[in-house]
Amino acid sequence: TSGPDPRPPAPAAAAAQTTLTTLSVWRQLYERDFPLYKQPLEVGCFSLDSRRRFFNDARQLRYYVAPERKIPNFDLRAGYRERFVRRDDGVKEGLDHILRWILANRAKLQAPDAAAASPPDCALGVDFVTWRGHLTKLLTTPYETREGWLLAATRLRGTLYVSEVETDAARAERLARTERHSEMMYWGYKFEQYTCAAEPRGRPDEGGVVNTNEAFCTVVRTRLANHRLLFSGEVDCRDADPRAPPGPACYLELKTSAEICTAKQRSNFHRFKLLKWWAQSFLPGVPRIVAGFRDNDGMVVSVETYQTSKISQLIKNEYNCWKPTVCMNFCSDFLSFVQSVATEDDPRVVYLFSWEPHKEVSYTVHRDTQYCFLPDWYLREMTH
Ligand code: A3P
Ligand code: MG
Ligand code: MG
Repeated sequence: TSGPDPRPPAPAAAAAQTTLTTLSVWRQLYERDFPLYKQPLEVGCFSLDSRRRFFNDARQLRYYVAPERKIPNFDLRAGYRERFVRRDDGVKEGLDHILRWILANRAKLQAPDAAAASPPDCALGVDFVTWRGHLTKLLTTPYETREGWLLAATRLRGTLYVSEVETDAARAERLARTERHSEMMYWGYKFEQYTCAAEPRGRPDEGGVVNTNEAFCTVVRTRLANHRLLFSGEVDCRDADPRAPPGPACYLELKTSAEICTAKQRSNFHRFKLLKWWAQSFLPGVPRIVAGFRDNDGMVVSVETYQTSKISQLIKNEYNCWKPTVCMNFCSDFLSFVQSVATEDDPRVVYLFSWEPHKEVSYTVHRDTQYCFLPDWYLREMTH
């Protein structure tokens, strides 16, 4: 966030924008009233097991167990060599799990109120289907200075499906990942193991295997301005109290971060980390984030809970800091941009939206290419 804001669009680009060839990421354009964002409603969930198999239920949901000590001293390095099964992130799943969930729950999606609100040409009653993580990237785009993105959009029966495509830079980074980086990615999952139980009154299994194939995902419906959204996101755990409200209000996001020792570190934490944490949890309506602060040797030295709704207050003292309204207005305008560009209702046509830091969002159109991402099994079910 301390990086310079991209320049306002030059006259040529501004003119281009009226013909919808690019979208500006200039922050000031999005500093207007906070857009309508309806309270996300959980419409279902699914689980992925240790072999990444889909289940239309909550079997992988875990229960939060608060650390017993103020200084927990969890060793996040424990088990990295012997008890770690890492998901193969070279396997690109696209929207497949969400599509499976949709096929298993079509009746629910076409519930009376949903059907009434949707035009007959729109089979699912929503304008967009995507992963929460893709929306998180959109929310943080006006403040991102390092990593660009590629988002593929395709229209089927009135609904736009949005799925990420790995950039060359991201691919290169993934393949060049160092051992240290790989171990630090493990730390986040190890923290989850120290603070979660498989049963409501269970205890964490510190000696168990960390398997990052396993996941519990919530599926929520909401509306951003005039865009009806259906998206799914991984949820780390829920409040173990059976009297807690239903999802997403009972869910907790778990995070790890380097311990904060200096004013500079605190400022960076507010400017960069809290932006990502806020965006990720605000979207699905996850109200609390539990952060484990660790030292350089991977020992958790403190744990703190953040209310997602209070994060924007927390950062107000930072000079020139990020603003939730900019994030949400940019996302809303990007979705409008996609709506206006991706007009052909044909899963063989993919509109590829691309963004690099300090540039504008642009797109290309691809017919019958490797970018097509709606699988045949989904198309057969949805179009017969
Ligand atoms: P931390 O969040 O503690 O960093 P999530 O927090 O979204 O539930 O993800 C769990 C862990 O997965 C993260 O722990 C991190 O270690 C790893 N992870 C998630 N997204 C990642 C990304 N884009 N790059 C690298 N690691 C990631
Ligand atoms: Mg997670
Ligand atoms: Mg987490």
